[in-house]
Amino acid sequence: MDAANTTATPAPVSIDETIALLAGENYVCGRGLATVAFLSMTLDKPLFLEGEAGVGKTEIAKALASGLGRRLIRLQCYEGLDAASAIYEWNFTAQMVAIRTAEAAGNADRDLLQQELFTGDFLIRRPLLEAMEPHAEGPPVLLIDEVDRTDEPFEAFLLEALSDYQVTIPELGTIRADEPPLVILTSNRTREVHDALKRRCLYHWVDYPDFEREMDILRARVPEATETLSAEIVAFVQGLRGADLFKNPGVAETIDWAKCLVALDTVALSPEVISDTLGAILKYQDDIARMAGSEVTRILDEARAKLADTGS
Ligand SMILES: Nc1ncnc2c1ncn2[C@@H]1O[C@H](COP(=O)(O)OP(=O)(O)OP(=O)(O)O)[C@@H](O)[C@H]1O
Ligand SMILES: [Mg+2]
Repeated sequence: MDAANTTATPAPVSIDETIALLAGENYVCGRGLATVAFLSMTLDKPLFLEGEAGVGKTEIAKALASGLGRRLIRLQCYEGLDAASAIYEWNFTAQMVAIRTAEAAGNADRDLLQQELFTGDFLIRRPLLEAMEPHAEGPPVLLIDEVDRTDEPFEAFLLEALSDYQVTIPELGTIRADEPPLVILTSNRTREVHDALKRRCLYHWVDYPDFEREMDILRARVPEATETLSAEIVAFVQGLRGADLFKNPGVAETIDWAKCLVALDTVALSPEVISDTLGAILKYQDDIARMAGSEVTRILDEARAKLADTGS
């Protein structure tokens, strides 16, 4: 990004300011999560977020980057991810073209070529290297998403990169971040991530939101849904989470379902409308089959009873 059009915002100086910054991005943040996010920014310590699918782990990194006016650099992890895809690679094709061109022009001096071929021009920057380089708008937000999908050697390598915020390229030397990036790692806990990496970070388990917070999320993300409909949606989804399903619906599903119901001009839930739209909340046929018939009615009745109890 060019220095002239930067829109960097100073980092928050309190937990309340962190909550407000995230609220400005339509991200509803509980005090526990806001506390670790604030400390992560203040102490320059990576933030490790673990939790179920669709509870807002990835989204908080996006919201922080956007709220702070910083660049978001994302390293999406997958099985088999290696250092070359995470830090840098030499652009072999461009190097070959340069060699052929030099040969054709008759000036293929070996030593000179070697020097020229291993410069920044032939380097493909991957997320970790990009995150260590200076940025006009301030240190970027580095999102290392779904770290549980990588393997242990890659974790060890991450640990090294994050312990001194530097990466070494043998031909070029060491590149060290002058200001450390704000690092957010996420995991769905498909396996335990090694202690050594977790110890380097501030840890927070992102749980499903309680009723009030999920209502706030719907108010922020689907303002077109009425309060009454939103309350029914949240109470029903929270009931589903207690129904021992194979895959519980996350906040992402609550939002999607609310949008579907609004698009269908639904005023209030009914067993019929729920059955017709279950595909927006449940993504496994076994779970959908379990909800067939009386189960939907039972959860809806329970949800309504709870709403009546709390006067919502
Ligand atoms: N606290 C929140 N405030 C506002 N929106 C939220 C919040 N939590 C989740 N969302 C919404 O839910 C969607 C899914 O969130 P996100 O992708 O961050 O989930 P995740 O925890 O990373 O899930 P996964 O493990 O599947 O990657 C987001 O696009 C966002 O719209
Ligand atoms: Mg995610």
